[in-house]
Amino acid sequence: MRKRSIIQMTLVGVAVGAALAVVAVAIPWLPDEASKQAGIVDSVYWVVTIICVVVFAVVAGVSAYAVYKFRAPPGDTDDGSPIHGHTGLEIVWTLIPAVLVTAIAVYSGVALAQAEDLPADHRVVEVTAEQFAWTFTYPDIEVEGGRPLTTGELVLPVDQAVLFLITSKDVIHSFWVPEWRMKQDAVKGITTRTVIEPTKLGEFDVICTELCGLGHALMRSQARVLSEAGFADWVEEQQRLAREAGSIQGKGLFTQQCGSCHTLADAGTQGQTGPDLDEALEGADEEFVRESIVDPNATVAEGFQPGVMPENYGEIFTGPQLDGLVEYLLEATGGGGGAR
Ligand code: CUA
Repeated sequence: MRKRSIIQMTLVGVAVGAALAVVAVAIPWLPDEASKQAGIVDSVYWVVTIICVVVFAVVAGVSAYAVYKFRAPPGDTDDGSPIHGHTGLEIVWTLIPAVLVTAIAVYSGVALAQAEDLPADHRVVEVTAEQFAWTFTYPDIEVEGGRPLTTGELVLPVDQAVLFLITSKDVIHSFWVPEWRMKQDAVKGITTRTVIEPTKLGEFDVICTELCGLGHALMRSQARVLSEAGFADWVEEQQRLAREAGSIQGKGLFTQQCGSCHTLADAGTQGQTGPDLDEALEGADEEFVRESIVDPNATVAEGFQPGVMPENYGEIFTGPQLDGLVEYLLEATGGGGGAR
């Protein structure tokens, strides 16, 4: 009688477990898989989920069955018969979870090592989080003034592994693109890393997934995955925009700071105190233009006195301002060794 009940209970548990597992697998629970890592992470997710669903269903099924089958009949006020343990059962319910948990740990460890495997031809992107924005820096892509390309939107070529080096300027944030699965904290003072190889073209959300303050829910950016050619075009466009931004800013600075003393046709200034830059800088290279600004007495144009132009422009202008001004002057005077 007792053996038959145990077999019945087990059968009910297994049946319910199997039914629930089928439902769980049939519904598309997860976002698109858009990276090489997504498949690996999802395998771990599903293996663990299926184990959990089966275990839960067996336990819940057995409990429900026992509550129904062994309930006290009406009017029965007797105590249940005392039970003093069951060594066999205890060994089984210790061994099964121990084996399951160890297997999951080993499997997850292998999957993580696979996901973070970094091929030699990878790209590096530095991710900086702050309340409440993301900044992406491409150390291998140079823009105007020798600075690395920096954007607020993450743009990557498809099918190339990316090593993300992640940090924060303030509190803890977390970098996550759901379709890529890999998630990594951004912590001030240290650089965390993760490896992602996008495998699908398209636009995805970059999401902060660590509660970081009032703007946490709005701390989102965009990740765009382009073809290799599309990415090359994008890089070129960014470089062109950076150049133009530099020279537009440079023109404004020139008019403000230099125009009262210097004539420059492009800026429409007619100062006479210093040399006419259309002549003095004609065909000059970047080094000469820069020197003429920060160390004006190094070379003094014919017919002008040394010491007239202040020597502190190197301090007045910030680095990017100086870069922009030099860039603009090269452009306006046809220098720099090439047309732009
Ligand atoms: Cu940054 Cu949440």
